[in-house]
Amino acid sequence: MSGHGDAQPMTSAKSGPLKGTAAVPGDKSISHRALIFGAMAVGETKITGLLEGQDVLDTARAMRAFGAEVVQHGAGAWSVHGVGVGGFSEPSDVIDCGNSGTGVRLIMGTMATTAMTATFTGDASLCKRPMGRVTDPLSLFGTQAYGRKGGRLPMTVVGAANPVPVRYALPVASAQVKSAVLLAGLNAPGETVVIEREPTRDHSERMLIGFGADLSVEKTAEGHVITLKGHPELRPQAVAVPRDPSSAAFPTCAALIVDGSDILVPGVSQNLTRNGLYITLSEMGAEIEFQNPRTEGGEPVADLRVRFSDNMKGIEVPPERAPSMIDEYPILSVVAAFATGKTVMRGVKELRVKESDRIDAMARGLEACGVQIEEDEDTLIVHGMGAGGVPGGAVCATHLDHRIAMSFLVAGMASRHEISVDDASPIVTSFPIFEGLMNGLGASIRRG
Ligand code: S3P
Repeated sequence: MSGHGDAQPMTSAKSGPLKGTAAVPGDKSISHRALIFGAMAVGETKITGLLEGQDVLDTARAMRAFGAEVVQHGAGAWSVHGVGVGGFSEPSDVIDCGNSGTGVRLIMGTMATTAMTATFTGDASLCKRPMGRVTDPLSLFGTQAYGRKGGRLPMTVVGAANPVPVRYALPVASAQVKSAVLLAGLNAPGETVVIEREPTRDHSERMLIGFGADLSVEKTAEGHVITLKGHPELRPQAVAVPRDPSSAAFPTCAALIVDGSDILVPGVSQNLTRNGLYITLSEMGAEIEFQNPRTEGGEPVADLRVRFSDNMKGIEVPPERAPSMIDEYPILSVVAAFATGKTVMRGVKELRVKESDRIDAMARGLEACGVQIEEDEDTLIVHGMGAGGVPGGAVCATHLDHRIAMSFLVAGMASRHEISVDDASPIVTSFPIFEGLMNGLGASIRRG
């Protein structure tokens, strides 16, 4: 169990105006999946635009440990020589997934129906997160898992030698759990069925179909019924990873709150399972123009022209929108602090089991910056102070959480006084060029 080396404090001060183009790196969810599905195909998958963040690099290392050949050819250009469904070899050492819940949960699913044993660990944040949500459905295939109290890492997973197919209704709206079950179903006979009441990000479904799996999605009264036929031969693909809408959220929201800003954020996903933040911001009165809609890397995208918006109003975010913006609540709560009126975020208890307890981390940090907050187990309410109205002047704790660190650094760009974070080192997990990209637009972010 480790952190990220030495803590790296960082400070942001009143910035801008922000100008220019914010070309954010590749999508984290799709990058993990490109490596994992590539490792399960027979032959060479070529990937361009891969996110070279620490989370994805940890997944690349894990795929090598299971026997795939994973090679970097240039910036974002990688190849994976896959070993085929069921072709993994037993790793000779512990698999360290670092900070990545997506990495560990998807990889557990991938090896769960092959007769082998693997032990997983991660950093101090990942070792606090619940794995039972994945190992419970995997046990239905015949997989066994032995972890610490509460289903925590480190954990040893014994793959099922004779897996049976599974029909599983997701008890939580989680694309990670859905994907783990589908990945396990690849090496089980017959049909594995996952039912999700609320749609979550659908990259696994889209990509599995692209890799040649027999997968269908039926919309029923129960929700989405996803049926996967076991034992396909996955065909290697050329995967062009689109930019990450969750990373694009940071320059977008910064431009909305920093006086005089006018930026372009190219290639932002308009996939309905990922674009909840952008709909919410538009409802709050944000000046965002969606230009040049097209398809990139199999995803619907648009270029966003984003201008400083001094007239945003707090809204009630519909709880059913949560899965499509689950990673964006921290930065939305920053924008909410610079809007007028209350922004009410209900149905968000999943935020408590992310890289940190994000309701608590945002509530404590925003309060320290002078913002009034209300919260309960499943709710976060931010009382907006209007454009330029947030005092700031605090040091915020990031709890090994990249999105908490980036959110408070964005807040500092528009607050009256500087905001520091105690540790910005986790930003490398998802957005390694954050500091340079933001300063290039006109931000005043410095180390220390
Ligand atoms: C992800 C799913 C989400 C999200 C995470 C990435 C994925 O987690 O928070 O950052 O790639 O499947 P949950 O499935 O736990 O909601």
